[in-house]
Amino acid sequence: MRSVLYPGSFDPVTAGHMDIIRRASMAFDRVVVGILHNPQKPSGAVPLDKRLALLRMAAKELTNVEVTAFSGLLVEAAGAANVDAVLRGIRSTLDTEDELMMARLNRQIGQVETVFMAASPEVSHISATYVRQIARLHGDIRGLVPETVREEIIRLLTQPQ
Ligand code: PNS
Repeated sequence: MRSVLYPGSFDPVTAGHMDIIRRASMAFDRVVVGILHNPQKPSGAVPLDKRLALLRMAAKELTNVEVTAFSGLLVEAAGAANVDAVLRGIRSTLDTEDELMMARLNRQIGQVETVFMAASPEVSHISATYVRQIARLHGDIRGLVPETVREEIIRLLTQPQ
């Protein structure tokens, strides 16, 4: 297996995402990080263009990683990205049921395989939802997000909309 699409909301990118992206860049020839968004839905806490910019900055040293945004179904994004499989990270058993259901559905509706990577224990407690909460309430997100984009994430999540 040579290429994977690592999809997600990345709202915002976390140290947990970067753990998977970094390890995937060593395990696969090509890694497409795909921000999946629904143009009909509210844009998320961090606007899509900023989410793209944060991810590109965080992954800029990883030469076989590209960052793109897709709308619509994940199976369509996998086709458009021309990858061999979808990659998802698993943090704990809480993720497992949902991820298995998604993987089986995507195989059924789009003949797309999903491979799983176990999150490193040091980051398996991190979620973008809690990062958003902590940052908005002026808590310390050091270590929870990539250091190169930490200040920009704080700015984006605390500035008045
Ligand atoms: O970062 P997240 O929120 O865990 O990412 C979830 C995501 C974006 C991968 C998932 O919601 C998704 O695949 N959305 C695209 C729409 C789709 O294909 N839905 C059917 C999944 S079986």
